[in-house]
Amino acid sequence: MSNIVIISGSPSTLSRSSAISTFLQDILVTEGNQVSTITVRNLPPEDLIYAQFNSPAIQQAKTLVEQAAAVIIVSPVYKASYPGVLKTFLDLIPEKGFTDKIVFPVVTGGTFAHLLSLEYAFKPLVSVLGAREILEGVYIVDSQITYTEQEITFVDSEIEQRLKFAIDQLLIQLQQKEMQAIR
Ligand SMILES: Cc1cc2nc3c(=O)[nH]c(=O)nc-3n(C[C@H](O)[C@H](O)[C@H](O)COP(=O)(O)O)c2cc1C
Repeated sequence: MSNIVIISGSPSTLSRSSAISTFLQDILVTEGNQVSTITVRNLPPEDLIYAQFNSPAIQQAKTLVEQAAAVIIVSPVYKASYPGVLKTFLDLIPEKGFTDKIVFPVVTGGTFAHLLSLEYAFKPLVSVLGAREILEGVYIVDSQITYTEQEITFVDSEIEQRLKFAIDQLLIQLQQKEMQAIR
């Protein structure tokens, strides 16, 4: 059993990337992992805007990150990069706060034109936080899924397979790290 945190970065209440977060969380919980989700839009806006590093809500969220062996960032692409609200939270994470954690980025976008935002925006962001084990991300275009508050449907079944494959890889790497730590 691994401890995994999902950081959901969309400011929208009815959100594709949040639906994907729930899908990933369900798979991970079914596999017996302990999973917490930080939905950034639900953190107190004042804490984020005024960078209240030590507010109770921010402390609680930071503890979830600190205790996790892996971080899954699920976010829309905004203006060819990450949404500001996601950045306001990541700015409050301590320097090198992702050290020794496996990071898996999942990004949704309106168009394939910003596929490379994974490489030039999201990966440098997690890298500066100390992440060195960054899994190949998954980029999902809006037309490849439909969603409601309750469930997600994959119009393109390859996306579902790629997400499941990536989660398998993440769990294998976590197991290997845990075995190495015991030895
Ligand atoms: C303010 C804003 C900026 C966006 N910028 C981009 C963009 O640069 N490239 C892109 O492909 N999609 C862009 N989109 C579309 C979203 O990334 C896409 O619809 C995403 O799936 C929304 O995720 P969500 O439903 O979880 O918020 C933008 C949407 C908004 C609202």
